[in-house]
Amino acid sequence: MGKSTYGTVYKATLEDGSQVAVKRLREKVAKGQREFEAEVGLLGKIRHPNLLSLRAYYLGPKGEKLLVFDFMPRGSLAAFLHARGPDTPINWPTRMNIAMGTARGLLHLHTKENIIHGNLTSGNVLLDDGVNPKISDFGLSRLMTSAANSNVIATAGALGYRAPELSKLKKASAKTDVYSLGVIMLELLTGKSPGDAMEGGSGGGAGLPQWVASIVKEEWTNEVFDLELMRDAPATGDELLNTLKLALHCVDPSPAARPEVEQVLRQLEEIKPELAGGTAGEGGGGGSGSRGGGGDESTTGTGGGDSSVEATGPPTAED
Ligand SMILES: Nc1ncnc2c1ncn2[C@@H]1O[C@H](COP(=O)(O)OP(=O)(O)OP(=O)(O)O)[C@@H](O)[C@H]1O
Ligand SMILES: [Mg+2]
Repeated sequence: MGKSTYGTVYKATLEDGSQVAVKRLREKVAKGQREFEAEVGLLGKIRHPNLLSLRAYYLGPKGEKLLVFDFMPRGSLAAFLHARGPDTPINWPTRMNIAMGTARGLLHLHTKENIIHGNLTSGNVLLDDGVNPKISDFGLSRLMTSAANSNVIATAGALGYRAPELSKLKKASAKTDVYSLGVIMLELLTGKSPGDAMEGGSGGGAGLPQWVASIVKEEWTNEVFDLELMRDAPATGDELLNTLKLALHCVDPSPAARPEVEQVLRQLEEIKPELAGGTAGEGGGGGSGSRGGGGDESTTGTGGGDSSVEATGPPTAED
């Protein structure tokens, strides 16, 4: 199905007719067998409705390394958004569900698994039959040598998802993941791909964020939204605007000014409370019951206000 820095992905059909995606890792860049087995065992335990499950791995006699994942028949968010015909509109609730699910998956990675994704793109957000997002390719850096990993960071930058500070630091962090999440939210809002040539932008690094910010600054804000979203604008106008502010907050050039994923998710849920209960709860594992505490209606009524983005709290000093 495709190739990337880490390896090649194949679609395979099992004897019972079910399908899986098999990723064959490049042998030269993968860690040695013992380290590999320890890391892959941990990755295989991760289960969350918004994270693609690793089902099995195979270590061949000649050092072949295969990872077996659930197959996602609807492909990537990138293809879903950017490679569709004019007659297949994607409505706002669907987009919002994708944004929230992606935030839930990332929150689980950051807080429960202590994993920084480092290569979060709309190509690595896959969609299941119900168009729910599943983040793929997390934790792969743990299976690779460090030389392979700096290569991946370079690739992500070329695609326009890389936070500006990565060019200097070369190290992914929770804040650079939030930046990438912000770019994905901008894709959902604008229908544009960060790879697209933007007027005024040179196509390098921060194309989509810069383009959106420049239009908002000129007060042509409605021009940024995907045209098909504007059809329902009277109903969803505030939601679009508040989501846009949140996305721009995520792509703030200063890492310290960006929110944590947790805040991003909470604000998305305030903007669209009817999706907050979630088809895919953030708790990991069980998915039973409603989200603890915060999900109830009482906290959501105040959402919507203009101050919601600015009110996400003071910059943290972690960096
Ligand atoms: N589990 C899966 N189900 C369906 N399609 C998949 C699955 N895993 C990967 N793909 C598709 O296979 C192709 C290759 O994936 P791969 O991860 O190698 O590259 P990429 O996602 O395009 O780039 P990268 O992950 O390096 O940023 C992509 O088009 C991706 O959408
Ligand atoms: Mg991928």
